[in-house]
Amino acid sequence: MKFFIDTANLAEIREAQDLGVLDGVTTNPSLMAKEGITGKDNVMRHYKQICDIVEGDVSAEVIGTTFDEMISEGEELAELDEKIVVKVPMIKDGVKAIKYFSEKGIRTNCTLIFSAGQALLAAKAGATYVSPFVGRLDDVSTDGVALIEQIVMIYRNYGYTTEVLAASIRHPMHIIQCAEVGADVMTGPLSAITALLNHPLTDIGLAKFLADHKKASSK
Ligand code: E4P
Repeated sequence: MKFFIDTANLAEIREAQDLGVLDGVTTNPSLMAKEGITGKDNVMRHYKQICDIVEGDVSAEVIGTTFDEMISEGEELAELDEKIVVKVPMIKDGVKAIKYFSEKGIRTNCTLIFSAGQALLAAKAGATYVSPFVGRLDDVSTDGVALIEQIVMIYRNYGYTTEVLAASIRHPMHIIQCAEVGADVMTGPLSAITALLNHPLTDIGLAKFLADHKKASSK
């Protein structure tokens, strides 16, 4: 399972990269705004900085919602760095744009996926990744992990190569559950990734090992 971090915060991206388990980064306009990154030049500079930190894919989202706007933005983003994956929303013109990009060899991440039908359309258009939003479905009393399972099954039935990127991950159990049902990738905050480290028996066990070692060494 690939681990992406879902943030535009450079310090957090560096921390995840230093941990040695990071396979990529996803961003979205809200995450860029949270870091105070506005204006085209600043946005492009920020994406380039992210690409310089990580070794894997970096999803950069288009703002335009018409086919022409998405094509022009996406082509510019893709030229910035070979790690860039153009993130396109699941709307009619988005599907057309994904088809266009896939024919041009530009990789895409179809975002805002909330149903299996949307995921099927994105795969048929040639998306590199689809991003079903697990946490946001859970927020409205719908089983987000069940959607991941359904999409994984559909893609396997037909051999689609589109990767299932479980997005809107909120906590470590989401990561485990998405791994159980075969998500190719998960993207979540640094806190969800580092929470996987924790188990009280690990802490108790390590403290005992070190205490025993200290006792034996002082004899
Ligand atoms: C998808 O790639 C989005 O950036 C993201 O995962 C949304 O997560 P949220 O629901 O926590 O905002």
